[in-house]
Amino acid sequence: MTLWSGRFTGKLDAVAWLLNTSLPFDQRLAAQDVRGSIAWAGAIHKAGVLSQTEHAAIVGGLNQIAEEFAQNTFAFQESDEDIHTAVERRLGEIIGAAAGKLHTGRSRNDQVATDFRLWMLDSLPLLVQSVTGLQATLVAVAERNQTALMPGYTHLQRAQPVTLAHWLMSHFWSLERDKDRLADLRDRVAILPLGCGALAGTAFDVDRKLLADTLGFIEPSQNSLDSVSDRDFAAEFLFCATMIGVHLSKLSEQMVLFTTAEFGFFELSDAYSTGSSLMPQKKNPDLFELSRGKAGTLIGLLTGMLATLKGLPSTYDKDLQEDKVPVFQAFDTLTMILPVLAGALETMTVKPEKMLAAIDSAMLATDLADYLVRKGIPFREAHAAAGKSVRVAAEKGISLDKLSMDEWKSIGAFESDLSRDALWRDVYQVFDPMESVKRRNATGGTSPDSVKKQINLAKETLTPPSPTGRGGNPKEKKS
Ligand code: ARG
Repeated sequence: MTLWSGRFTGKLDAVAWLLNTSLPFDQRLAAQDVRGSIAWAGAIHKAGVLSQTEHAAIVGGLNQIAEEFAQNTFAFQESDEDIHTAVERRLGEIIGAAAGKLHTGRSRNDQVATDFRLWMLDSLPLLVQSVTGLQATLVAVAERNQTALMPGYTHLQRAQPVTLAHWLMSHFWSLERDKDRLADLRDRVAILPLGCGALAGTAFDVDRKLLADTLGFIEPSQNSLDSVSDRDFAAEFLFCATMIGVHLSKLSEQMVLFTTAEFGFFELSDAYSTGSSLMPQKKNPDLFELSRGKAGTLIGLLTGMLATLKGLPSTYDKDLQEDKVPVFQAFDTLTMILPVLAGALETMTVKPEKMLAAIDSAMLATDLADYLVRKGIPFREAHAAAGKSVRVAAEKGISLDKLSMDEWKSIGAFESDLSRDALWRDVYQVFDPMESVKRRNATGGTSPDSVKKQINLAKETLTPPSPTGRGGNPKEKKS
């Protein structure tokens, strides 16, 4: 028997029941449902709906149910339509008729929205923790590789040398933005729908501000019609999750590339690579490929959620039951991928000699132009001369740093106070990639000094704020 069977004489078709029930997935909200109900019992007790004894019985019963969920002894029944009805049914078994008073002035519409928000408030810190775990790994590996040089790429073409630490830290900052977004989202999740009833508000004298405080929300929502239909937080969460997924995909794509024989910059440990059923020599970066692939799935979850919301009128519609699965799936996906990627990065072997060998002197053509600029040549002319030298070297089939002094002197017709000798005298010094990297010393650049500063700032960001309020992330949001 369902909780709403009073109006009905017939029974719901068996397959229709399967379509309608949300218990298979919303039982994940069990702890939050009980917590919300305990708070609600307090609110309607204060409003004079429950006597002292009834309130005590309901709270006692709900605490027992919470314990049953915690111990995994709660027995669901076939007639339980969703987590809310399952809890109420069980409460009746434990305390009898008084259980029937709990749902006074409440609807599953404000209840489910409250449970889901509570779940998200509980879960956001766990996701943030997983992101922080990967960030900590990026910082640790960066710290070990501050002078290892590798090619930096644009358009996936070799561009300029960078340090491995700089590349690793580039992924730290994108994840930091993701955490900012999650912190920002939290304040919008923490708006309480409970007390909005089915759609029009509750008819009992419920102190919703107190209810919000009790449940750890910032404040109660201001419009019941909006409140029971508002799933912005679910869509926003999915966007935040998807953005993390896209960032992990970017990292993963490069990991796939850099672990190929052609690049050979890193070798994955056995714990984080897989073999081929046919080709005995293969060591595959499956986990990075899955991380890249799951970004596609996450994008689908986000667009699916938005498509569900589009076209809904205000207040509750059963379409909204479709909100939980994608959010849970996105959460589970990320909390699984993040520690795996962290482990894979932590245990990979870096091949500094392979990375260095991939840097050719043409990648220092910008430095060559800068060299001429420092000798007083306007950048445009310097750029043209450096370009020409690359062409000359390519035509001769030699690398740029192997051009002879005579060849250098024949490049470019500059109006310069300096003699050709003086202009080109120090040119060979340009082709030390470490010197190139060191010159990029402004904030955000790849010089080891600058990257060291990044690393230090990142470490400060990762340190939780002390109880004195000093240290930690200056951007830390109010909680
Ligand atoms: N299982 C429902 C959901 O997840 C709970 C709310 C049901 N409300 C209703 N009016 N049928 O959205």
